[in-house]
Amino acid sequence: MTSPTSQRVPVVAPPPETVNDGLVIDSATRSDLFRIAGLLRSAAPACVPLTPHQVRARRRQFEVVRDPVDGVVAAVALRPVERRRVELGSLVVAPSHHHQGLGTRLVERAVSQCVRRDLELVCVTRNPRFFARLGFRCLPFCRERSSSPNHRRGQRTAMACLATLTHHRRRIS
Ligand SMILES: CC(C)(COP(=O)(O)OP(=O)(O)OC[C@H]1O[C@@H](n2cnc3c(N)ncnc32)[C@H](O)[C@@H]1OP(=O)(O)O)[C@@H](O)C(=O)NCCC(=O)NCCS
Repeated sequence: MTSPTSQRVPVVAPPPETVNDGLVIDSATRSDLFRIAGLLRSAAPACVPLTPHQVRARRRQFEVVRDPVDGVVAAVALRPVERRRVELGSLVVAPSHHHQGLGTRLVERAVSQCVRRDLELVCVTRNPRFFARLGFRCLPFCRERSSSPNHRRGQRTAMACLATLTHHRRRIS
């Protein structure tokens, strides 16, 4: 019998891409683990902090943006969660590189990869406004959750806001 895990579609990273000022988007390597963990830690609570050990366990899910001078300045993870569904998480850009379009580009790459392979892309985020600009829509049951007492107190809940792309063929209802 096939287990649910083996039915998940592996996420294959697209080829590296050069963006502005010689920055390159590429798959994470072992030498990036501590830097990714550091970026996530400094972006908490918007991001869930991961230890370098946890990042290593998920290394193949991470893409990073490398600056020729500063090294890794942004990261994102794409995790297969169900047979045809992928979760985007751990999106972070170093404050020194905010507002240069890097966060947008990382999400756009994930979107086109999922659209091309007919996968549904979802994310659980404390920053729904950023994702709304990029075509993500909150699910109705998440809006209920977002008005829960826990969320009002600013605590992260698993369903703080689950967003899915509206233009995708399959929609979660
Ligand atoms: C959210 C984040 C990834 C955006 O990265 P970025 O590279 O600065 O984003 P971009 O340059 O692509 O942003 C383009 C636009 O998105 C919007 N935007 C950026 N950050 C935003 C935020 N925190 N909230 C709402 N909208 C935001 C702005 O309209 C921005 O346009 P501007 O540069 O003209 O002001 C970055 O602020 C970050 O790392 N934040 C902390 C971690 C986090 O919130 N991660 C997302 C949850 S998993």
